[in-house]
This record gives sequence, C-alpha cells and structure tokens, in this order.
Amino acid sequence: MNDKEQILAWARPEIVALKPYASARSEFKLGDREMILLDANENPFNNGINRYPDPMQLKLKKRLAEAKHLAVEQIFLGNGSDDVLNQLMIAFCTPGKDKAVLLPPTFGMYQVCASINGIETLEVPLTADFRLDIAGINAVQSSSTKIIFIPSPNNPTGNCFALEDIKRIIEGFDGLVVVDEAYVEFAIDKSVISWIDEYPNLVVVQTFSKAQGLAGLRLGMAFAHPEIIGLMNKVKAPYNINVLTQNEVMRRLEEQGLIQQQVHQIKQEKEQLLLEFKSIAFIKKVFPSDANFFLVKMDDSKRRYNELIDRGIVIRDSSKNLNCANTLRITVGTPDENNALVIALRSMDK
Ligand SMILES: Cc1ncc(COP(=O)(O)O)c(C=O)c1O
Repeated sequence: MNDKEQILAWARPEIVALKPYASARSEFKLGDREMILLDANENPFNNGINRYPDPMQLKLKKRLAEAKHLAVEQIFLGNGSDDVLNQLMIAFCTPGKDKAVLLPPTFGMYQVCASINGIETLEVPLTADFRLDIAGINAVQSSSTKIIFIPSPNNPTGNCFALEDIKRIIEGFDGLVVVDEAYVEFAIDKSVISWIDEYPNLVVVQTFSKAQGLAGLRLGMAFAHPEIIGLMNKVKAPYNINVLTQNEVMRRLEEQGLIQQQVHQIKQEKEQLLLEFKSIAFIKKVFPSDANFFLVKMDDSKRRYNELIDRGIVIRDSSKNLNCANTLRITVGTPDENNALVIALRSMDK
C-alpha cells in the first residue's frame, strides 16, 4: 500500500465515500476579478462581515504554510484545537467499532470527544515519572486502534516527552499518531512538525489559544499528510472559520516578535515562581515543566485550592487525574498576578 491507500484504509469508509457539501463559491475560482455575488442569499450591504468567509481559508493557510514551512494542502483549521481533535475522530473512528488510545494523566477533552463520538478508549498510563510507556502502547494495539493522542508538552503534567520515544511510537503505531503541541511555543525545540513529510500517520495539532494569546478567538490547526487533511475537510462545517478570526490571526502572524517577547517573559516569571514554590513548606513537589504552567504537589490540595479561592485566585485542581493525588495546576500569569499568588501562598498557614 502507498501512503494514500494506507490513510484511506485507516479512515472511516463512509467518510471516504462521502461527497461533501459544496458551497456555491467553492465551485469556481474567484481570482482577483471583482464579481457580483448573487449566489449565497447574503445581505448585499457591506459591513465588513456580510459575506460568508472563504470555506478553505486559503489566504490564511498560505501565510501559515510559509510560517510553518509546509504546503497549504497539509493544513487544516478548526474552531480551536478541541474542534480539530473532534474532526479527526469523526474522520477516522467508526462509532461502536474503533478505539482511541489515551495516555493518562492527559488532557481531558480526548475522553470527552471519544465519548461523544461513541469511541471506546484504551488507557496506557504514563510511567511514574510521566514518561511514555512504549511497551504498554505496543501491547494495546490492534486493527481497531485507529488513533493515539500524545500531548507534548503534556497537560496536566507540563513535561515534554522524549523525541526519540515519540518517534518510536509513530514508527510502530498502525494508525494516526496525534501529537498535540498546544504549548509548543514554550518548548519550540521539542516540536515534531518537521517530521510531517516523513511520516504519513503523524498529525501535529497546534493552537492560537495559549502562547499566541488568542484563546477568545478560537483557532486550532492540524498539520498532516494532504490525504488526512482532505478527509478532515470533508467532515468540517462549510464555513467553519469566521471572517473576524481569519483576519485577526493574519494580523497575529505579523506580531511574532511580540509573542516571542511575551513567551520569554513568561519563562522568566516561571523561573521566579519555581524558586518561590520551593521555599513554601506545604508545596511538596514541583514537577518539571516545559509549558506555561506547573503541576505542584501539595500537602492537602483541596485545602490549598479553597484557601487560594478565598484569596481571589483561581487555579486548577488536578488531583483527580491518574497519579496526580494532591496536585494543583498553576498557570504562570503576569508579574502582578504572580506576585499576588506568592503573597497569598505565603499568607497561608503551614
Ligand atoms: C493539550 C491541550 N490541547 C488542546 C487544548 C485546547 O485548546 P484550544 O483552545 O485550541 O481548543 C488544550 C487546552 O487546555 C490543551 O491543554
């Protein structure tokens, strides 16, 4: 089988056979010529957003293709990476038949998305020090395990997985390997995006929600073999990325200097917070982090969570995750916010 045949063999047969909805405007090339648009029943009076958005987001994808050193055909855009993950599951997993592999403690949306789609999940826990259990992953594989989700840096633990371990999984897994790089700007040397051309089963997911500072806008991206992207395009809603989002992301792509500065500052703040955490007696452990948050082990996470809430600070209680008893997940904020956090922690009884 060549790469294309292999991808089609993994995909859901009904999606391979699907004839997607064709919007009026995608049936011909608009080009640069001014046209009178009487095809989509819009209000004709211009207000900047009275027209439907480009269903394939070509202008934005061209700009992203340059930035990511990929082809336009290797890029899919969704309404946040949550939506991207959902489209992948819809395109590749048959409800009631196929399975997804999750690696707890892991990002909670993978399970939610699988449950919504009627996809059984197989869990292969990370090792005690939160590394990938490659033998365990190999052991659960079968012809129905269509997809595995690897967030790196991982949420909630914060660590990146070793590149050679991720490579071994990609090379050994008979199905899609989704490497979710939501926090990759904080660990740019750990990205696997440059492996896309080499591995037809690799899907890299990134987002504008974290370091890029546009969580309210909702833009997630998948980078993969064009055949995978083609299947995702078939299942997406026709006009899934609105005009305002496309325009704002174009602008943000011109502001990468600012984002790098902010990432640098967040990393400096993170170092400072780490020192502070180490001096607080009821913080028992700070796990190594490659992201913009820390997983910390407390003496009593419930108590400390409530005490922080009382002091007006919201953090994430991660203690229900596998092997995360008594942990809290704390995002690095602005210098003022971090100071407030440190003052609050210091004010709490031992
Ligand atoms: C690992 C991981 N993937 C994806 C997401 C979702 O990101 P988005 O805002 O792009 O849907 C998050 C958000 O917390 C995350 O931690």
